[in-house]
Parts: sequence; structure tokens; C-alpha cells
Amino acid sequence: MSTTPVITVDGPGGVGKGTVCRIVAQRLGWHMLDSGALYRLVALAAQRHGLRWDNEPALVPLAGHLDVQFSSDISGNEARVLLEGEDVTDAIRTEECGAGASQVAVLPGVRAALLDRQHAFRELPGLVADGRDMGTVVFADAPLKIFLTADAEERARRRFKQLKEKGIGVNFAALLEEIAARDARDSQRNAAALKPATDAVIVDTSTLSIEQVVEQVLTLCRERLMVRC
Ligand code: DC
Repeated sequence: MSTTPVITVDGPGGVGKGTVCRIVAQRLGWHMLDSGALYRLVALAAQRHGLRWDNEPALVPLAGHLDVQFSSDISGNEARVLLEGEDVTDAIRTEECGAGASQVAVLPGVRAALLDRQHAFRELPGLVADGRDMGTVVFADAPLKIFLTADAEERARRRFKQLKEKGIGVNFAALLEEIAARDARDSQRNAAALKPATDAVIVDTSTLSIEQVVEQVLTLCRERLMVRC
């Protein structure tokens, strides 16, 4: 088992995990894993190969052999994501791709096929891992586990703002509905359902700013991991 430290940050979609993880990784000078991007990539690759999102026998080898590169995230900016050499950073962020990701993520074979790839991100000096099952499955031995929550409406507001800033137009009511549907799918599925690890610290971010959440996470890092940041 690896001794390289990992901080797992799990929680539902739109809770701000990505932004929090990016800032925490930057402050610590650690690597970051955006595991949701892997599921989004499988969904996009499936679409491009004309495969349905529930076609497990075809999706398992696809997930296992995904030709993916993440550009360096050391600047703290969102990493660029390349699929088969093409920049798909924006293409994987659409709501459609998110819905597809949530569907392929239900398949146990796809989850298993992505495990080694996720473990490979665990490199010195440390890793901040963003996802749904980072603390419960993928890095179950992590010394610090965080679970972020916020009510669905607040998450829809945040996601709406985020998409608007990227110039992606969406309907708020439809977004809220999609978030609720995705919550249900993510938390009710049999394989690695969304739930806090028994040893996770739960942080309700509904009334907190990103900076306040980051500060809480960094305080836990100082206390639990004895790191200076
Ligand atoms: O965090 P995100 O919105 O990019 O994730 C997209 C979907 O991928 C989400 O609906 C659930 C799934 N997912 C997962 O099942 N396990 C993870 N570790 C990360 C994401």
C-alpha cells in the first residue's frame, strides 16, 4: 500500500468540490485527480463510438483503454483534457455529458476498469482526489477524508453561475431537475453509491463561501496531516 498522502473530497454534483480541490492542491503543491472527468470521458468516448451508455460489455474495454491526457494542473488553472489527442475540456462539461457520466458510472465493470488509472495519480508529494467514492472505495486508506454537502437548490444556483460564466446557456429549472435526478442515481446505485466514508469529516457548504470551505479543509490538513500550508 502506498504511503503517499491523499486527501479525498467526495460529495454530490455542484457542491464546489472541483474548485475547492484545485485551490487546496495548489496551496499544498500536490497533484489533483478529477475522477468525474474520467466518467465524463467514458460517456463522451462512447457517444463518439456510437455506443449506448448502458452497453457495459462494450464500455468496459473502452474505459480500460481510454487514450486520455491531462495537462499539468500546477498553475492552479483547470487542467486541459485530451481524448485521443483532441482537446475535450469544454465538451466533457456539458450537462448532457454529465448525465451520460452518471449513467456509465452505474456500471460496476466501468468503475473497476477505471481503478488503476485513478490509483496512478497517487504520486508524491501528495494527492487531492475529487469524486464520489474516493474515500469509500478508491483511496479507502486516505488519512484525511472530507465529504462536502449543500442543498440541491444551492448547488443548482452554483452550477448555473459556473456554466453562465463559461458562456453555456441552461435553463435553471431543468438544471435543478437534472441535479436531483443525478443525486438519486448516484446515491441509489449498487456500485460505490454516493455516501460519506464512516471516517469522513462532513462539511455543509450551503452557507459557506469557497474561501471558507478551503480554509476548513486546510485547517484539517494542518491538524491531521501535520502539513504546513
Ligand atoms: O463530478 P462530476 O459531475 O464531473 O461527475 C460526473 C458523474 O460521474 C457523476 O454523476 C457521478 C459520476 N462519478 C462517479 O460515479 N464517481 C466518481 N468518483 C466521480 C464521478
